[in-house]
Amino acid sequence: MQNSLSGKHIVLCVCGGIAAYKSVELLRLFQKAGADVKVVMTGNAEHFVGSMTFEAISGHPVFKGMYGGAPDAEMRHIAWADEADAVVIAPATANIIGKLANGIADDAMTTFMLAVTAPKIICPSMNTHMYENRAVQRNIDTLEGDGFVIVDPGEGELACGAVGAGRLPEPGYIFDRVVSIFFSKDFKGKKVLVTAGPTREAIDPVRFVSNPSSGKMGYAIAKAAADRGAEVILISGPTNLKTPYGVSRNDVVSAGEMADAVFDQVDAADIIIKVAAVSDYTPSSKAEHKIKKGEGGISIKMERTVDILAELGRRKKHQILVGFAAETQNLKDNALDKLNRKNLDIIAGNLVGDPSSGFNSDTNKINLFLKDGSIEELPEMDKDAAAHVLLDRIASRIMETQSKNNN
Ligand code: PMT
Repeated sequence: MQNSLSGKHIVLCVCGGIAAYKSVELLRLFQKAGADVKVVMTGNAEHFVGSMTFEAISGHPVFKGMYGGAPDAEMRHIAWADEADAVVIAPATANIIGKLANGIADDAMTTFMLAVTAPKIICPSMNTHMYENRAVQRNIDTLEGDGFVIVDPGEGELACGAVGAGRLPEPGYIFDRVVSIFFSKDFKGKKVLVTAGPTREAIDPVRFVSNPSSGKMGYAIAKAAADRGAEVILISGPTNLKTPYGVSRNDVVSAGEMADAVFDQVDAADIIIKVAAVSDYTPSSKAEHKIKKGEGGISIKMERTVDILAELGRRKKHQILVGFAAETQNLKDNALDKLNRKNLDIIAGNLVGDPSSGFNSDTNKINLFLKDGSIEELPEMDKDAAAHVLLDRIASRIMETQSKNNN
C-alpha cells in the first residue's frame, strides 16, 4: 500500500448518507498511499460530516457550491476535473446516481462530474429497498454502461434497521478497488493458479497437525495478479483472510484435498505459484472419536503426503511453475535443490522464524532463484510489494519465452 498512489490526484465526492463518516477514513488511506486528495460535498453531506473535517485533513478547500466563497470556486469544477487521476463517489446516494445517469448538472458535484474524464468509481450506499428499486438499478446499469466502475454495496444490518444489500463497503476495500485501476494489465489473458495458507492433517475429530502460515503471502500474490488483469484461482487452506476482489477461491483443508484441487486446474493454468505451506506428513489413520488421554505418551504414525509441486514439475507442459521454499537454514542450497529437483522456473526462498519474514508477518525478505542461474536478494518489503516484484520477474520470463518462440 505504501506509495501505491504516489503523485496521483484523487477527488473524493461525499454525498448525504449515514456512511459519510467512513469517507474520512478513505481520505486518510488515499493520503497514506501518497495521493493528493480533494473533496467535493453535496449540501446534504454536511448534515452528516462537516466540511471543516475534510478541509483540515485534505489540506484543501472543500468544493460544495458553484457560487460565492473563494475567488476560484466558479472554475473549480473544470480545474479539479482536469487534474484528477481518479474520482470516487463514496457514499453515493440514489439521488446522485439518478442525476449522473441522466446527465443532470444542478449543483457543484454533478457539474464537476460531467467534466471528469478520469476513471470514475461509484459506491452506492442506501436502504436495501431503495437500492433494489428498479429505477435505482436501471440508473446503476446506465452508469456502468457509461464506463463508471461500480463498487457493489455490502450486505448486512443497515443503520436504518433493514437487513440486506446497501451498506458502504469498508474503506480498505474501496481503497483496493481504486488502486487496482492504476496497475498495468500485463497479465490480461493469463490464468494464474495460486495456493496459499496452511494445510491441516487430522489426528482425530478435534486435533490436527499444521503450521503457522497465515495465507498473507499467497493472498497478496493472488490480489496482485488479479489487479494486473489475470484470471486468478486461489486454492486456500484455512485462513482468516478475505478473498481479494476479482479472485475466485476454492477452500481446502488437507494436503490431499489441496493436491486434488490443484491437479483439477493444472491444465488450464498458464502460471502456477505454490505459496501454500503444505504438510509433508499426515497421520496414517484418523481416529474416529477424540483420543482420550492416558497415563503415558502416545506416538502417531505419519506417512508422506503427495509433493504437489514435484508432481506439477513432472507434468509440466507450457506452464510457468513457481515454488516457495521456507527454510530455517541454508536458504540458498535448499532453495536451489528444490528449484532443480521440482523442475521449477523460479523459487522464492524465505527464512522463517524471523518476525519480519516468512510466517504470519506483514513483510517478507525473499531471495529469488531463477532457472537461468540468476539470484536476486530482495530487501525486506511488505508482502504486497514482494508479490508485485515476483510478478514482474514472471512477466519478464513470459516475454523471454515469447521472443524465443518468435525467432
Ligand atoms: O502464509 P504466510 O503467513 O504469509 O507465510 C508465507 C510462507 C512462509 C508460508 C511462504 O512465504 C512460504 O515460504 N511458502 C512455502 C512453504 C513451504 O511449504 O515450503 P517448503 O520448502 O516446505 O516447500 C517447498 C515448495 O513445495 C512450496 O512451494 C510448497 O507449496 C510445495 N509443497 C511442499 C510440500 C508438499 N507436500 N507439496 C508441495 O507442493
